Amino acid sequence: MNSSAIDQARPPAERPLADPGVDRASIGVLVREFYSRLRKNERLGPIFAREITGDWEPHLEKMTDFWCSVILKTGDYHGRPVPAHLKLKDVTEADFDIWLAIFGETAAALFAPETAAVFVDRAERIAKSLKLAMFFRLPVPNSSATDIATAEGG
Ligand code: HEM
Repeated sequence: MNSSAIDQARPPAERPLADPGVDRASIGVLVREFYSRLRKNERLGPIFAREITGDWEPHLEKMTDFWCSVILKTGDYHGRPVPAHLKLKDVTEADFDIWLAIFGETAAALFAPETAAVFVDRAERIAKSLKLAMFFRLPVPNSSATDIATAEGG
């Protein structure tokens, strides 16, 4: 297979989005508008207020890196989303629906419909894997029977 055949076989998810309107600046605007809306949400606002108590700027910059990596494949983000969410004990699956709805509204307000759809598609897939990690954890295979009984409240 030559390289162009490989490129054609590659799923679109692995390619940077080709929309000249999407760059670090416009992704930064999306991130800021999104978190400004989340912070006003009656359910999610208090969760974020509890977790991010000081300056929001580092979180906003980290999330801009994250979305640049996801959408433009810049490799700017080097964090670990799963542990960051595993420690949020009172977050439910329904909270993810709220998160995704606000994210979708924000993306639709700022980008062309096809571009907003790409952001939403990526967000939904990542949300799915975060939910798997948070709510559907299997017992660690090599933990003893006592560990599992304790984990189940025994
Ligand atoms: C109800 C849903 C969610 C809640 C309540 C939530 C909340 C949080 C909180 C409190 C943090 C830690 C902020 C900090 O201390 O810096 C965080 C980090 C983060 N979140 Fe979420 N999140 C949710 C869903 C999502 C989704 C769907 C995505 C991706 C599409 C996402 C991506 C991230 C990333 C990349 C980080 C940074 C992790 C790191 O590298 O430290 N979150 N989130």
